[in-house]
Amino acid sequence: MKSIQIAIDGPAGAGKSTIAKLVAKAFNFVYIDTGAMYRAVTLKAIRLNVNLADDNAFDFIDQTRFDYIDGNLIMDGENVDEMIRTREISNQVSLVSSHLSVREKTVKRQRALSEGKNVVMDGRDIGYHVLPNATFKFFLTADVETRAKRRYHENLNRNIHSSLEDLKVEIIARDDFDSNRKHSPLRPADDAIIVDTSDMSIDEVIETIKAKVREDEALWKQNSQK
Ligand code: DC
Repeated sequence: MKSIQIAIDGPAGAGKSTIAKLVAKAFNFVYIDTGAMYRAVTLKAIRLNVNLADDNAFDFIDQTRFDYIDGNLIMDGENVDEMIRTREISNQVSLVSSHLSVREKTVKRQRALSEGKNVVMDGRDIGYHVLPNATFKFFLTADVETRAKRRYHENLNRNIHSSLEDLKVEIIARDDFDSNRKHSPLRPADDAIIVDTSDMSIDEVIETIKAKVREDEALWKQNSQK
């Protein structure tokens, strides 16, 4: 069967996870949140007390099990989806995900998890690196103010209290680090559709993506016949 892959990239707080999760639900596709995988690796590294700055300290990834169940990341059988969203993890994950060894090991897993399945995968390098042949590629952006506000409300819903100003500073720092790192930095694929979500509601973004995906009728026919 020819599977359909939807890649959604973009900076922190652009709404990727919320949107990707709902798009996956609408099409009944598997949702793979790659940021969650880097966060979970960071959590495990902290638990193992390894030096996060040491590129060679991440061999444990090869012995780690990752499953996505209903959009939640399960690491070694434990649902870690909530505990990987803390500020501590958010502030360390850019460093961890900048290591080449970490990226090679996690990308291998991301590709294996998506093989032969209809998926929505979100991240920073999906469209041009992890799934360069993805059927659809979107790059979601929004101005920093909007993104900080979204993170603020997202955090509140998770009972995490934060200051909007602090979040703004953290988001700018993380974008800067993610965009300028040496290995697979944050950037759109050349053939990605760029969607500026600053003045759009979640529903509007989802409708934009769904409309693009549905446009390709031939693909859907082929997918349902096989
Ligand atoms: O999307 P997020 O905020 O949960 O991502 C957490 C971090 O993981 C982000 O700062 C950069 C990194 N990341 C990455 O380098 N490549 C990806 N495909 C996804 C996330």
